[in-house]
Amino acid sequence: MPLTMLMYASISRLPPEGAMLAVEAILKRARARNARRGLTGALLFTGQHFVQVLEGPAAAIDGLWGKLQTDPRHEGLVPAIHGPLQKRRFDNWAMSYSGPSQFVSKRVQLMFNVDDPVAQSRAADWVLDLMYQFSKP
Ligand SMILES: Cc1cc2nc3c(=O)[nH]c(=O)nc-3n(C[C@H](O)[C@H](O)[C@H](O)COP(=O)(O)O)c2cc1C
Repeated sequence: MPLTMLMYASISRLPPEGAMLAVEAILKRARARNARRGLTGALLFTGQHFVQVLEGPAAAIDGLWGKLQTDPRHEGLVPAIHGPLQKRRFDNWAMSYSGPSQFVSKRVQLMFNVDDPVAQSRAADWVLDLMYQFSKP
């Protein structure tokens, strides 16, 4: 089955107090479910936004994408990179970054800039590389 990769950004709907616990809960369930479905990737959380990279069989990604879009813990999902993948970049499923750094937040905000696809795609590539670096031991 051909590999697909999907990266999207979304706006967190988690109440700021207790957000970290809620993210931990998302991660815990996601790790188990994704392992069963052959999905790898990473989740980044800035306090305001999520960015998620998913890699795996197209059917598994499509199925999860449907669920993610109706999940009330976030909204305004913007797909940033979506397409066939030769080789996985994330060997596991992990939290790649969590924190309020303005440096990261500014780039993530650019991923919502659908009116400027060039800036949007440049920001997505930058964030993807950051997530990859953070996912390494
Ligand atoms: C930011 C975010 C990332 C998520 N990532 C995953 C994930 O990688 N895998 C997963 O199974 N569920 C993930 N979820 C949870 C799904 O949206 C959904 O709740 C879960 O698949 C269970 O759906 P179900 O109870 O309808 O079967 C995520 C939720 C949020 C808000």
